[in-house]
Amino acid sequence: MRIACLPGDGIGAEVAGAAREVLSVLVPELEIEDHLFGGAAILATGSPLPDDTLAACLEAEAVLLGAVGLPQFDAADVRPEQGLIGLRQALDVYANLRPARQGAIDLLVVRELVGGLYYGPKGTREDGTVFDTLEYHPSQVERIAHRAFALARGRRGLVTSVDKANVLETSRMWRRVVTEIASGYPEVTLEHVLVDTAAMQLVTAPERFDVILTENTFGDILSDEAGAVTGGLGLAASASLGDEGPGIFEPVHGSAPDIAGSGTANPAAMLRSAALMLEHGLDRPLEAGRLTKAVDEAIELAPTPDLGGTATTSDVVAAVLAGLER
Ligand code: NAD
Ligand code: IPM
Ligand code: MN
Repeated sequence: MRIACLPGDGIGAEVAGAAREVLSVLVPELEIEDHLFGGAAILATGSPLPDDTLAACLEAEAVLLGAVGLPQFDAADVRPEQGLIGLRQALDVYANLRPARQGAIDLLVVRELVGGLYYGPKGTREDGTVFDTLEYHPSQVERIAHRAFALARGRRGLVTSVDKANVLETSRMWRRVVTEIASGYPEVTLEHVLVDTAAMQLVTAPERFDVILTENTFGDILSDEAGAVTGGLGLAASASLGDEGPGIFEPVHGSAPDIAGSGTANPAAMLRSAALMLEHGLDRPLEAGRLTKAVDEAIELAPTPDLGGTATTSDVVAAVLAGLER
């Protein structure tokens, strides 16, 4: 089982190293190969997604990804984030699952990942106007809606579809298509909520949500919010899946330049993403369960500064490894 590991930049590389260490103990038969990606790849090759990195991802069983982003590229024409956006498109991983759980909160953001504002026509007109375009084809909405309803069936059976149908044409089509797909899942309840209200409810009543189905940009923002109300970005994991081919497993957080190099990044989000890889990408639910349990215990025993503690990244790794031995 070959895994393409893309450590990327900042704490991305630090937490990817932590995942590699834990996986080598938990599933020794995994072959994990590192490849250049993001800012590190721009510095070495000029491209954030070099051809051989993309080829290795296409041939792998799954892609384990840290995070990309370096402040020095924020205003550059070639940016680390373009590598991530290109990779998601190349693997057609349209379904981004971002679970958030803590106490009474147990929700799953199902974010459309390869359409919308990120991928529509963009550019600069002669008069200096700059534009990005929000486009969706109904077939893109259909396939992500099917995913959300199928997942809700195995959970509490509520899909909250989030849009801005009071303003946007794409949202009105989204609402119509999602309602059509819902009729094939009679055991699931569908509600539509406008995105501003959804953002408010995520803060005031996060426990009311089960599956939140939404488009790319709204899902980006709401999933950070869902992470924040369930312990912070240091804990928030994600799986990006297509219909076939390798999935991408990466934390919700970025490269965190403010703490990069301090050795205090919380590796839990990355380790939970590795657990999602074992479950969804490699069909190893047993090991996924063991890892999830060990991570849950480790963040209690060795909390990093983002959780109010003083543990380092390697303290958490040590606690996870000790937990796996128990
Ligand atoms: P960020 O997610 O990197 O950090 C936001 C805040 O959360 C920071 O204060 C950071 O210290 C904290 N944080 C995040 N992860 C943490 C962890 N594991 N442990 C402890 N604290 C953690 O967002 P940002 O600062 O807005 O973005 C920094 C860079 O990351 C940008 O270049 C951005 O484009 C990129 N980014 C990449 C991804 C990705 O690769 N998937 C995701 C988000 C942002
Ligand atoms: C995420 C990140 C990315 C996104 C960026 C870095 C392109 O914020 O994975 O949530 O917006 O999808
Ligand atoms: Mn994001």
